[in-house]
Amino acid sequence: MSELTVIVLAAGGGTRMKSKTPKVLHPLAGRSMVGHVLAAVRDAGATRVVTVVGHQRELVGPHVEQLMPEATIAVQDEQLGTAHAVRVAVETAGLDRLAQRGGTVLVAYGDTPLLRGESLRALVDDHESAGRAVTILSGVVPRPFGYGRIVRDEGGSVAAIVEEKDATDEQRAITEINSGILAFDARFLVGVLPKIGNDNAKGEYYLTDAVALARDAGEPVGAFVLDDVMQTEGANDRAQLAALHRELNARIVTRWMTEGVTVMDPATTWIEADVELAPDVTILPGVQLLGATKVDEDAVIGPDTTLKDCEIGAGARVVRTHGELAVIGAGADVGPFAYLRPGARLGDKGKIGTFVEVKNSDIGEGAKVPHLSYVGDATIGDGTNIGAGTIFANYDGVAKHRTTIGKHVKSGSNVTFVAPVTVGDGAGTGAGTLVRQDVPPGGMAISAGPQRVIEGWAQARRAGTKQAEAAEAATAAGAAGAEGTPGEREATHTTDPGVGDPGTGATQS
Ligand code: UD1
Ligand code: CA
Repeated sequence: MSELTVIVLAAGGGTRMKSKTPKVLHPLAGRSMVGHVLAAVRDAGATRVVTVVGHQRELVGPHVEQLMPEATIAVQDEQLGTAHAVRVAVETAGLDRLAQRGGTVLVAYGDTPLLRGESLRALVDDHESAGRAVTILSGVVPRPFGYGRIVRDEGGSVAAIVEEKDATDEQRAITEINSGILAFDARFLVGVLPKIGNDNAKGEYYLTDAVALARDAGEPVGAFVLDDVMQTEGANDRAQLAALHRELNARIVTRWMTEGVTVMDPATTWIEADVELAPDVTILPGVQLLGATKVDEDAVIGPDTTLKDCEIGAGARVVRTHGELAVIGAGADVGPFAYLRPGARLGDKGKIGTFVEVKNSDIGEGAKVPHLSYVGDATIGDGTNIGAGTIFANYDGVAKHRTTIGKHVKSGSNVTFVAPVTVGDGAGTGAGTLVRQDVPPGGMAISAGPQRVIEGWAQARRAGTKQAEAAEAATAAGAAGAEGTPGEREATHTTDPGVGDPGTGATQS
C-alpha cells in the first residue's frame, strides 16, 4: 500500500453555531465532529495526517493533538480558501519534499461527523487503481444549493467543479455535487497549488480549481460517486448538528440491532460511538448509553436509564437509573431510581434498589441495599443485607472515611454507620442504630435505648380529639372489666438483647 497523507481542513470560523466552542469541537455521539473525522481517517489507513487550524486554534490544536498525537498541526492565520489551506498544510508538513516519493493526498473537512473510514478507503483505492491526478468524492443530492457542482463533458467525463456563486443557471441545475473530499496524486497536488488563483465570486483560492487545471494539462481526472453522500455532510448550525446527531445515532443503533441487540424504541435510544454491547442485550425506551459503557449479554437496560462509562454484567437488570463509572455484576438488579456515582461496584447477583445512591463503594456478591439508602466510601461483604433507610456517614466535615461491613451481616432499618467503622462477618445492627464503634463478628449492635410507653397519654393530653376518642374506644373494648388508671410504665416493651431476641428490624426484598 502506498503512502496516504490526509489533510483535514478545520480552520473555518463556524459563526453560525453562535458558540464560544469552535464548530469542529461540538460533540455528538461522544466525540467531537473532528474526532469522528480523525477516527475515519485512521480507519482509512492514513500514514500521515495534517490538520489545518485557524479560528480558535488554541482550542482546536490541542484537541487534535490529544486525539491524534502523531498528527501535524498546520496554522492558517487567514482563511483565504481551501486551496490556500492545503498550501499551508503542504508547507508546514514538508509535503512538497515528501511528494517526490509519490503517494496519495486526501483532503477532507473537520466538520463531517458521519464520515466512515471505509468510504475514504474506497475513494483512495478507486483513485489509485485508475491512476488519476485527482478524484472527486461526489454524490447526487436532491437540493444541491450551496455545493460545488460536478460539470461533465458530452462523453460524461468530469470537466470541472463550479462553485455555487460562479455557476450559470444551467450548471446550478446539476445535482451531482462535490462532497469536498478530494484525492490527489501527491506530485500533481504540489505542482498545481501555485497555479490556483483567486479570481472568482468569493475572491478565495478554490481547491476545486485543481480539477479544471488537471483537465487542461491533459491529466486524468474523475469522480467516485458515494451513494451514501450524507456521510460527507457538514453541520454549520445547531439545527444541522441536531439532525446529523440523530442520523448518526440512528446508524449506531441500527448497527447494534444487526449485531443482535434488541432495541425496543430506536427513536428514544441514544448510543455513543465507543459503547460496546453483547448480543441479546435488551434496551428499553428512553435509554442513553454513553462514553465507554459496556453491556454484557442478556442484560436488560431501561426504561429511562442513562449510563456513562459503566460496565454491566451478563443478565443484569438496570431500571430507571442514572450511572457513571460504575460496575454492575452479572445477574445483579439495579433500580428503579438508583444513582450510581463513580466507583460504585456491585457484585454478581447483588441489588441496589429504589432511591439508593452509591459512591466509591464495593458491594459484594449477592449483597443487597434494597431501599432508600446512601452508601458512600463503603465495602459491603458478600451476602450482606442493608436495611431500608441506611446511611453511610462518610464525611466528618473535614475528611472522608471508609466503612467496612463483613459478609452475611444483617443490618436493621434506619441505621447510620459513622465512618471510620468496621462491622465483622455475620454481625447485626438493630433498627435505628447509630454505629460509631466497631462490631465484632457475630455481634449485635444496638444503640437505641429501651422504649418508654406512657399509657393513656392520648386520653390525658389530647382529650376531646379524634385521637383521644379512638384510643378511648380501643382501650375500653380491649380491657373490658380491667381496672387501672392512666400512668407511666417504663420498659413495658424491652429491646434488651440480653433478655430476648430483638432481631434487627431489617427490611429485605
Ligand atoms: C466547499 C467546496 C465545494 C463543496 C463544499 C462541500 C471549495 C472551493 N468548495 O465549499 O465545492 O461542494 O465544500 O461542503 O473547496 N477551510 C479552511 N480554510 C479556508 C477555507 C476553508 O480550513 O481558508 C475549511 C473550512 O473550515 C471548512 C472547509 O474548509 O471545513 C470548507 O470550506 P468552506 O468555505 O465551507 O467551503 P464551501 O463553500 O462549503
Ligand atoms: Ca461548508
